[in-house]
Amino acid sequence: MAESMEILAPDAAGIARAAAHLRAGRLIAFPTETVYGLGADARDGTAVAAIYAAKGRPSFNPLIVHVAGTDMAKRYGQWSDLAEVLASAFWPGPLTLVLPLADGHGLSSLVTAGLPSVALRVPAHATARALLGAFDGPVAAPSANPSGRISPTTAAHVVNGLQGRIAGVVDDGPCSVGLESTIVGLTGDAPVLLRAGGLPVEAIEAALGMPLARPVPDEITAPGQLTSHYAPAGQVRLEAERAEGNEVLLGFGNVDCDLNLSPGGDLTEAAARLFDCLHQLDAMARPIAVTRISERGLGVAINDRLRRAAAPRNT
Ligand code: TXA
Ligand code: MG
Repeated sequence: MAESMEILAPDAAGIARAAAHLRAGRLIAFPTETVYGLGADARDGTAVAAIYAAKGRPSFNPLIVHVAGTDMAKRYGQWSDLAEVLASAFWPGPLTLVLPLADGHGLSSLVTAGLPSVALRVPAHATARALLGAFDGPVAAPSANPSGRISPTTAAHVVNGLQGRIAGVVDDGPCSVGLESTIVGLTGDAPVLLRAGGLPVEAIEAALGMPLARPVPDEITAPGQLTSHYAPAGQVRLEAERAEGNEVLLGFGNVDCDLNLSPGGDLTEAAARLFDCLHQLDAMARPIAVTRISERGLGVAINDRLRRAAAPRNT
């Protein structure tokens, strides 16, 4: 993957080329008004897995899905009166709404980290909007930096961090906001501030005519990391050689098992299938054994997820 990375102009030709890369399942960094995002087709699990691989992320946080407008947002998230109020006040702009997943959404389960909700945002940046319009589909995009590094606000930052790991970057100068979007959760009874960001909380509360609830501290930093979101019904046993008793065996690579993350031992494929497999196992309500998965590349995040599924329950 040491190919050089294309620097694309924010003109019609550059946008068309970037959209073609996204269609082909490749990663493209693009400017938004907040920070540069690292985009992939949000319906393509393999492309989404490649985002985690390129960033070297050691865990699977749910990602924000970028859409061209409210109509497209409604295909992926269940709309509500509160969503309408906030979208009409602040979209396009630096606000992300977390909504219950809509029926037939077609998004990869990796983009939502297996959650029943999705984070949606309509960026205001003209180039981001042009790309979303040309691609005509949902684009998963975390900030375009290696994990643990500062979010990029210029194409040069993206090149410095991700050179050789992604297909290209659309260069349209520095971002104006420079801070990630504010995230509001609309999945419960009251709207919740999930992440402070580029849109001031006071503006959101004024539009809503009510204060935003604050979640418990764990949820602010990593809502997708809560064990309760992730634990399947059955007990989980790791590094198993074979199934014992009533166990159902989740395998990786060339092993005899009930469900296989990737028969060919491909970690990108395994990451793309992980949450679908966990949901299938959950539905079986049997104890789960998992064969060994290599602790390298995306295997680190896969094992992190499985270890949390296997951890003692506190509910
Ligand atoms: O400004 C931004 O929002 C930038 C630019 C590129 O648009 N994007 C960005 O995306 O920061 P990302 O994917 O790094 O943001 C992910 C955060 C997660 O850490 C989590 O806090 C929240 O979005 N999130 C995503 N899906 C969620 C869900 N279903 N429930 C709760 N929080 C969610
Ligand atoms: Mg980030």
